[in-house]
Amino acid sequence: MKYLVLYKSIHHKNTEKIAKAIAKELNADIHDIDKVNPDIIKNYDIVGFGSGIYFGKHHKSIFRFVDKIDKVDKKAFIFSTAGFPFLKAIFHKELKNKLKNKGFEIIGDFSCKGYHTYSIFKLFGGLNKNHPNGYDIKKAKDFAKNILKSF
Ligand SMILES: Cc1cc2nc3c(=O)[nH]c(=O)nc-3n(C[C@H](O)[C@H](O)[C@H](O)COP(=O)(O)O)c2cc1C
Repeated sequence: MKYLVLYKSIHHKNTEKIAKAIAKELNADIHDIDKVNPDIIKNYDIVGFGSGIYFGKHHKSIFRFVDKIDKVDKKAFIFSTAGFPFLKAIFHKELKNKLKNKGFEIIGDFSCKGYHTYSIFKLFGGLNKNHPNGYDIKKAKDFAKNILKSF
């Protein structure tokens, strides 16, 4: 299986840490999604898409990229960092549906806390200070290990 990890991480580079941990575990190629052509996915069997959550969903760069993909018969997983990762099911829904409509089978998703200093959270020194931390990274690696076990 050839794995590709595509991510966008803009606020505090929180998601970049998770993307790198997952990619290392999967021995995957990894790119900032804005720096590659959508054709790249033709060379891979399983593609991971991740970013921070902004206003309830993944970053617009992820959606823009997926819009440009032709219909595929591939597998995908989704990941994110967020102020409130327990809302993962809601935050991931739009990207999940978009990927499914392109023909991807979703094989799993992962989210963890990310340092959040936008808007009012700035006033209190930020939410989730020091996240993702070692525990979050371990959870991300476990997520990747489970994918490896299944395929
Ligand atoms: C403009 C903006 C909007 C955000 N909206 C949400 C949100 O709707 N829900 C949430 O849980 N976190 C929200 N966050 C927090 C980010 O998801 C969190 O900080 C994330 O870890 C950022 O990832 P990054 O550093 O990889 O960009 C928001 C952050 C920013 C800057």
